[in-house]
Amino acid sequence: MSVNSFGRLLRFTTWGESHGPALGAVVDGCPPGLEIDEGKLQPFLDARRPGQSKFTTQRQEPDQVRILSGVFEGKTTGTPISLMIENVDQRSKDYSEVAKAYRPGHADYAYDAKYGFRDYRGGGRSSARETAARVAAGGVARLVIPEVSILAYVTEIGGDAIDRASFDASEIANNPFFCPDAQAAARWATQMEAVRKSGSSVGAVVECIATGLPAGWGAPLYGKLDADLAAAMMGINAVKGVEIGDGFAAARLSGEQNADPMYPGATGPRFDANHAGGIAGGISTGQPVVVRVAFKPTSSILTPQPTITRDGDATELFTKGRHDPCVGIRGAPVVEAMMALVLADHKLLHRGQCG
Ligand SMILES: Cc1cc2nc3c(=O)[nH]c(=O)nc-3n(C[C@H](O)[C@H](O)[C@H](O)COP(=O)(O)O)c2cc1C
Repeated sequence: MSVNSFGRLLRFTTWGESHGPALGAVVDGCPPGLEIDEGKLQPFLDARRPGQSKFTTQRQEPDQVRILSGVFEGKTTGTPISLMIENVDQRSKDYSEVAKAYRPGHADYAYDAKYGFRDYRGGGRSSARETAARVAAGGVARLVIPEVSILAYVTEIGGDAIDRASFDASEIANNPFFCPDAQAAARWATQMEAVRKSGSSVGAVVECIATGLPAGWGAPLYGKLDADLAAAMMGINAVKGVEIGDGFAAARLSGEQNADPMYPGATGPRFDANHAGGIAGGISTGQPVVVRVAFKPTSSILTPQPTITRDGDATELFTKGRHDPCVGIRGAPVVEAMMALVLADHKLLHRGQCG
């Protein structure tokens, strides 16, 4: 049973572990003739790369992506594109305790329960190092959907949300939190400094907006665009919730409040609101696609937690090593990548069926 692949026509498979020599992705189904080189993918990996501020893990990984196949004379050939990223900064000895006992909240116990054997070094396959491969694959997907712009940013850390009235997209690159509100970013710096020093962790909410896609991508019922987006986002490590458009808040609105009134526009309908998050009946409406993703707090923390050993004995564990005090921060580029991969797949599916 393969559980390492995602997508239908644009299908990618990721491989590799945190402390193995390398990890990567194979992207299959990419149309031929698209201009591509490592330089087109690297900026997305650079955005996700660890060790760029004191608020993320201090593991130093250059995350240089190499294209091994599927490209000739600077263009995709239509054959599988293999992408590889080397692991260069592992400290496996930090995980000697995790080899013997399970981190509460992490995947250690569940992996052992399922496979009876696990690569505990850095979390092995359950490590979010794997998301580097998705981000590289997402860079390929973006080439398939040049008409679409995708932007993800953090709207909330540790329960402290941005002020929507202060939203400024140009701020996102100005702080280490992908935060569109300068004042919130300043508050988060203070908050995260305390969290980091105490060895604790906090959760975060990432919002992602895709603009420029036409009406018509997606499919009814079993191929719904929103269902595929939810699956893609829930597949990211540490994600515990996904909302499309108003999400759970829609359940508290009346039909009048939740309507997205339509009027004739110059090039198609003009909508007065976007409670639906750009998707109706599983199909894009041409409005921006809006997804919100909830990341739980990092489970590797310095506070000792009750747990059990592999032999089932009671013990306490605190996690040494270099960890992200808030995984949602570096989750933003991963969310963008998954949005790109789903939209590119649906563009090809739409073209396949409807021309
Ligand atoms: C970008 C990113 C970085 C992460 N870094 C860490 C980390 O440093 N330490 C940790 O314990 N978990 C980290 N995680 C979360 C774990 O990978 C995740 O909790 C674990 O695989 C268990 O899966 P689940 O939380 O989806 O159930 C990170 C997640 C993401 C998306």
